[in-house]
Amino acid sequence: MKILLLRAAPRKSGATNAFADAFAKGLRAAGADFCDVNLCSKKIAPCAGCYKCCAFDSECPIDDDMSGLLQLVRASDVVACFSPVYFYGMSSVLKAFFDRCFPLIGKSSHTPFCADTKASGSLMKRLLAFSVASGRISTFEPLSKHYEFIARGLGMSLTNIRRGEAVYFANLKHNSKRVKKIFDSVEKLGREIALGEVSDDTVASIELPIAPSDEAFFARAKIYWNILRS
Ligand SMILES: Cc1cc2nc3c(=O)[nH]c(=O)nc-3n(C[C@H](O)[C@H](O)[C@H](O)COP(=O)(O)O)c2cc1C
Repeated sequence: MKILLLRAAPRKSGATNAFADAFAKGLRAAGADFCDVNLCSKKIAPCAGCYKCCAFDSECPIDDDMSGLLQLVRASDVVACFSPVYFYGMSSVLKAFFDRCFPLIGKSSHTPFCADTKASGSLMKRLLAFSVASGRISTFEPLSKHYEFIARGLGMSLTNIRRGEAVYFANLKHNSKRVKKIFDSVEKLGREIALGEVSDDTVASIELPIAPSDEAFFARAKIYWNILRS
């Protein structure tokens, strides 16, 4: 089982990278064969929409880090993406990465994305999408749908994980017991992925709501945004 961990969070010391660290710890503990890549430090130009990658004997003409990343995707059984939620979507570096995955389906499908219910590609891999947002669960609706269609387009199965209320992860040095439990569950997720099966309990314990009330959430959110702005 080969796992490709893709970090797509610009803030090095933010919550998303902290979760990716916990996931990597779990992978390591299970002896997984994995590659840990920070997409933010890679050169990934936007797709030019030239369709050269669909042509019979042609590759993507853009000369950057994406050809190496595509090789890693091809060689992996699981692609695990960790991204913050930005404007109800994924971070821009991850979007650029997925657009540049077009060569993975370009030649294999006569009509990519034209059939709503059919996969365009047939990668037969698992996409693990781990998203982190300051807002609560409804924030993830558009992105979860997007991941569903991306996985379908590429012919991958999807494990979608949404960790909202990042307002509770602003200062990771002052971890509460609840926050620690969530990080332990992310580590467990790493161990489970390495063994090929993710339990519903693990996903539920990662996604567990934290705020006891709307008032508590908004009070905490105020503190969070002040910390980020300072
Ligand atoms: C450009 C930008 C857009 C954002 N959009 C959203 C959003 O749509 N919904 C939300 O809940 N949080 C949003 N946030 C907050 C981040 O998702 C949140 O702070 C997350 O924890 C960032 O991850 P990080 O701690 O790894 O940087 C946004 C933050 C930025 C910088």
